[in-house]
Amino acid sequence: MARRALRLRRRLPVVLALCFVVTGSLCGGGNAAAAERKTVGVHELKRGDDFSIKVTNWGATLMSVILPDSKGNLADVVLGYDTVAEYVNGTAYFGGLIGRVANRIAGARFKLDGKVYRLYANDGNNSLHGGHRGFSKVIWTVKEHVGSGDSPYITLYYHSFDGEQGFPGDLDVYVTYQLSPPYVLSVLMNATARGPSPRATPVNLAHHAYWNLGGHGSGPVLGSTVQLLASRYTPVDPATLIPTGALAPVAGTPYDLRAPAPLGARLAELLRRRREGVSGYDTNFAVDGDATAALRPVARVRDGETGRAMEVWADQPGVQFYTANGLSGGVRGKGGSVYVRYGALCLETQGFPDAVNHPGFPSQVVRPGQVYKHHMVLKFSF
Ligand SMILES: *[C@@H]1O[C@H](CO)[C@@H](O)[C@H](O)[C@H]1NC(C)=O
Ligand SMILES: *[C@@H]1O[C@H](CO)[C@@H](O)[C@H](O)[C@H]1NC(C)=O
Ligand SMILES: *[C@@H]1O[C@H](CO)[C@@H](O)[C@H](O)[C@H]1NC(C)=O
Repeated sequence: MARRALRLRRRLPVVLALCFVVTGSLCGGGNAAAAERKTVGVHELKRGDDFSIKVTNWGATLMSVILPDSKGNLADVVLGYDTVAEYVNGTAYFGGLIGRVANRIAGARFKLDGKVYRLYANDGNNSLHGGHRGFSKVIWTVKEHVGSGDSPYITLYYHSFDGEQGFPGDLDVYVTYQLSPPYVLSVLMNATARGPSPRATPVNLAHHAYWNLGGHGSGPVLGSTVQLLASRYTPVDPATLIPTGALAPVAGTPYDLRAPAPLGARLAELLRRRREGVSGYDTNFAVDGDATAALRPVARVRDGETGRAMEVWADQPGVQFYTANGLSGGVRGKGGSVYVRYGALCLETQGFPDAVNHPGFPSQVVRPGQVYKHHMVLKFSF
């Protein structure tokens, strides 16, 4: 009881602060229903006594994933913050649900059905991760929450309005986080052009957890073994990180992770051969296999120290492999931990970067009447 009261007291200033930051008129205007809908909270899913996650409706963000190792030691294996207020401030996209279009769009512009759309440029001249205030920086609505039992889940909903961050048309977006036996976390995303002004729009959702299977504060993940089931990648212009449009074979390059490889050694090789601006992996790989298969294996990661392992499965054409190069300055996270460069890795299953400007890449355009679906499954073992 006392603990719950304390938690509520700590949460209240957060909600108030968010009202000012994000939805001043809704919270201050006496519209009780709207204010209620926009409340920010933290929701737990718990399977047994050794597998649980926390999710906030701020950005549909995954705040923690608690797992055992073979000795039964529990650890939180995703980077993040203790409080929602810090996510509001944060710039690293820790655990966020990224959209409307994850990754970069060159020149923050694209042409669709003969019309040019201009987006918010927040990465040099490019749009990155949906713009200045993408889906990871808005308040979602909790639609359903079953916190315990055999397959606990939470479903969050966001309505993206016509013209938001420059994107065309209304869009309904859902994400469900679900735990299932033995130690499986599923992320199910969908989107449909629905609302007063539905239009064709690019959609590319991605879940952006920073994984450190040794524990979120355990330092660089260079002792991990990584396997990516991808024979090709999309090379980029190193100055802008925009794809050239080519699909290059990984064979004979530091991008060849088809067999399980020690990340530290591969990264060292990448940096030795580095071109200007490259400080680690931040690369889209084309996942091997049948693109129409419901789910394909994408990646396997194993932490050498604890033996915790993760398999990533998804039904998307690509996966952005990122070694947290941007944490170079050190970011203060949960429990006072300081997260450093290479202190985690991201495996963001998604479509290819800038696909809307590359007719040769798998299309990300969703038209009214069509459904965008993205199924991502993380299977943990130890
Ligand atoms: C957010 O950032 C501002 C400016 O850097 C800082 O003053 C404030 O303490 C931060 N808030 C949180 C909750 O981290
Ligand atoms: C942005 O575009 C302008 C005009 O083309 C160019 O001069 C500038 O170098 C670009 N900036 C970046 C960061 O690419
Ligand atoms: C999208 O997901 C939500 C939540 O699971 C579900 O209710 C809805 O039917 C899904 N929409 C489509 C078009 O599949």
